[in-house]
Amino acid sequence: MLRLNKVDFGYEARSIIRDVSFEIDAGQFVALVGENGAGKSTLCRLCNGLLKPSSGTVTLDGKDTRNARVSDLARTVAYLFQNPDRQICQNTVRDEIMFGLEYVVSDTEEQSRRCEQMLSLFALDGRREPFSMSRGERQQLALASILAREPKVLILDEPTTGLDYRECMFIMEIISHLHKKGATILMISHDMEVVADFADRALVLSKGRLIGDDTVRALMKNRALLSEASLLPAQIPALALELGAGFEQVFTIDDMLKRIKETQ
Ligand SMILES: Nc1ncnc2c1ncn2[C@@H]1O[C@H](COP(=O)(O)OP(=O)(O)OP(=O)(O)O)[C@@H](O)[C@H]1O
Ligand SMILES: [Mg+2]
Repeated sequence: MLRLNKVDFGYEARSIIRDVSFEIDAGQFVALVGENGAGKSTLCRLCNGLLKPSSGTVTLDGKDTRNARVSDLARTVAYLFQNPDRQICQNTVRDEIMFGLEYVVSDTEEQSRRCEQMLSLFALDGRREPFSMSRGERQQLALASILAREPKVLILDEPTTGLDYRECMFIMEIISHLHKKGATILMISHDMEVVADFADRALVLSKGRLIGDDTVRALMKNRALLSEASLLPAQIPALALELGAGFEQVFTIDDMLKRIKETQ
């Protein structure tokens, strides 16, 4: 679905992404993690065609992003910005959701149907002004407006940053539901609990290079790799690492409870 082959990218003379290659199959849920400034947002913009590689290739759903128009790629891929205010550009919630839809759906009845569906899913009032809403509500609106397009691939740049626990779980349940229905997900996150709970595979970026590509379970047990990318494991895998022998297979709270009962 998404393939990067020896991708390099820089802003002016400064190299930001260096020799990155990976492939994401349809239906995978992949987390992209790494220290601040590692180049994660830049890499995501290369994946959705907003930026073009200076060398190497990015292929999305069989199309080389250098030759495809961003508007064509937008039928396949949707991108949630790190900051929702960089995405929101209309004066009402309803207009904001309709704005992105008009590019991908020409039938006006279908546009309205999808818009109403998103308003009801996110319990949003279509008449509200986005800038009078809380940060969490604006994040939900930004997500609602890209989901209305029903993209095959979702690229999410820190979808839960700045949200309280309930808002975070609400958004992650929606993303997880879409994944179960077949969407391919690439999600940047600094929250290793979210990564552990929802993603299957992790790409680790450090100083523009891909230094890890493995299952999330393997990442959480790899102290050297985590420390190289300035990351801490999620709490349960961290505790299992501390407990050592006998706890190698422990990853979730259920695993931990089962293992403790076995040792009693
Ligand atoms: N438009 C730009 N022009 C020049 N340099 C940029 C631009 N955007 C980002 N950079 C630089 O590229 C590097 C990587 O930035 P990027 O935003 O991709 O990192 P990130 O991993 O997403 O960081 P964070 O975790 O803070 O979101 C940083 O050093 C940043 O200063
Ligand atoms: Mg970023």
